[in-house]
Amino acid sequence: MKITFLGHSCFSLEINEITILIDPFISGNALAAHIDLSNLRADFILLTHAHQDHVLDVEVIAERTKSVIVSNYEIAMYYGSKGLNVKALNHGGTFKTDDFSAKYVNAIHTSSFADGTYGGEPGGFVISSKDKNLYVAGDTAVTMDMKLIPMLLKLDAAIFPIGDTFTMGVDDAIIASNLVQCSKVIGCHFNTFPPIEIDVNDAKTKFSLKDKELIILEIGEKINL
Ligand code: NI
Ligand code: MN
Repeated sequence: MKITFLGHSCFSLEINEITILIDPFISGNALAAHIDLSNLRADFILLTHAHQDHVLDVEVIAERTKSVIVSNYEIAMYYGSKGLNVKALNHGGTFKTDDFSAKYVNAIHTSSFADGTYGGEPGGFVISSKDKNLYVAGDTAVTMDMKLIPMLLKLDAAIFPIGDTFTMGVDDAIIASNLVQCSKVIGCHFNTFPPIEIDVNDAKTKFSLKDKELIILEIGEKINL
């Protein structure tokens, strides 16, 4: 599984020949100005919730790539009514293909579209390929529900928001790392806007003092999980 950070909470996952895009918010992110939206690949677009900083570029990408939007029922219906390809899930449900599965799991947050439309209840995804398991928490507080994930499978990495204010911050992300029993954390949802600015080196130090790894990717950087 290859993981590319595209800024804020947007990631691209490559599994075999397919590309999964998560929470595309690029055209509204000044820090991601060097990312070419018109060149992004997507076979599937996974959406954790309906907030603008997670769905801004969904329609333009989905129209061009004919990808399948996978999200909760309300978000799927919202985009389905616009003629886009969708697959609806709800919490506890798993979307399966030959290359990967994505289970929609609990998050503590809110979810509404920019136009006020109800965006269902927010979630995260546990994404499994043949040999790797990745938890994408979405926007969330730390929650005891995270303890359920290691009962299901062993994670190779977890993508956690660390910017505080609208989600958990660094200290809670360390607790979350304990709850999901995964010491390799990829940070997101920080430094995009002033309310979520953090000291990245301080965050890395806090993780390493607990014998954990906080991976901070440059926007556009790709790693092999
Ligand atoms: Ni949000
Ligand atoms: Mn957000």
